[in-house]
Amino acid sequence: MTPEKLLASTLFECRGVHYSYQGRFPALNGIDLTITEGERVALVGANGSGKSTFLHLLDALIFPDRGTLIFSGEELTEASFLDAEFSLRFRRKIGLVFQNPEVQLFCPTVREDIAFGPLQLGIPEGKVKERLESLAQTLRIDHLLDRSPHQLSVGEKRKVAFATTMAIEPEVLLLDEPTAGLDPKTSTQLIEMLIQASHSGRTIVTATHDLHIIEDIADKVYVFGQDKRLAGSGTPAEILGNTALLQANNLIHIHPHHDRDHKVMKA
Ligand SMILES: Nc1ncnc2c1ncn2[C@@H]1O[C@H](COP(=O)(O)OP(=O)(O)OP(=O)(O)O)[C@@H](O)[C@H]1O
Ligand SMILES: [Mg+2]
Repeated sequence: MTPEKLLASTLFECRGVHYSYQGRFPALNGIDLTITEGERVALVGANGSGKSTFLHLLDALIFPDRGTLIFSGEELTEASFLDAEFSLRFRRKIGLVFQNPEVQLFCPTVREDIAFGPLQLGIPEGKVKERLESLAQTLRIDHLLDRSPHQLSVGEKRKVAFATTMAIEPEVLLLDEPTAGLDPKTSTQLIEMLIQASHSGRTIVTATHDLHIIEDIADKVYVFGQDKRLAGSGTPAEILGNTALLQANNLIHIHPHHDRDHKVMKA
């Protein structure tokens, strides 16, 4: 770990965080973890283990039922967002790319969707245009700018959704399954963008089922269990080396090869 990272301050502190939907469907059952400034974190776990819910809490779209979630020394509650100055500061600093890209695409054209966030946050038009052009070029979506987002392929939508969040230039990036449905080349380009973003000091929290990418995008991995508690944590190498933990949490499966006399392990 670099000296800067040792000195890094706490960004999010979760203590005993519980959340259930409509008070009936448990999604998180007491999560304790700390994320420091500039840290790269991966969240892995089976379907329904609470990864997306946890990202929604970090983005203050929802708030804990029990326990505390502290952001830069300030507890995140509905009341803290009544303070317009705090709310604007938080929204400028944190950007979430949703698991379902449709959620963040609602303008008639891709161009308007990418410009929407920064314009809402009061970024001058000239600057927004610069960001739009640069992102369109890096993500190779120039040819999609005048299309309707709803008519794009799933992978194209995911790239556009990623661009809408990157256009805010958030210091903290929350990514929910960013590589799902992307072709290998596009996936590699996106990972490279994330590596660059982290070199510029950004904090990156990624929920993913793609174990192949976690060594590139994370320093620390949290495994969410099917009981909606943390099942384990460690460096990517430690987690990837823990076959029993991965298997217990549906992250790898062992399936028999009927035509041969051995089993194949698949990540
Ligand atoms: N809107 C909702 N209403 C009711 N229950 C919900 C809602 N969204 C999620 N849940 C429940 O909360 C739990 C956690 O869901 P969540 O989407 O956070 O899991 P996840 O780890 O992101 O799963 P996946 O890997 O499939 O994306 C699940 O049991 C799910 O059924
Ligand atoms: Mg999810």
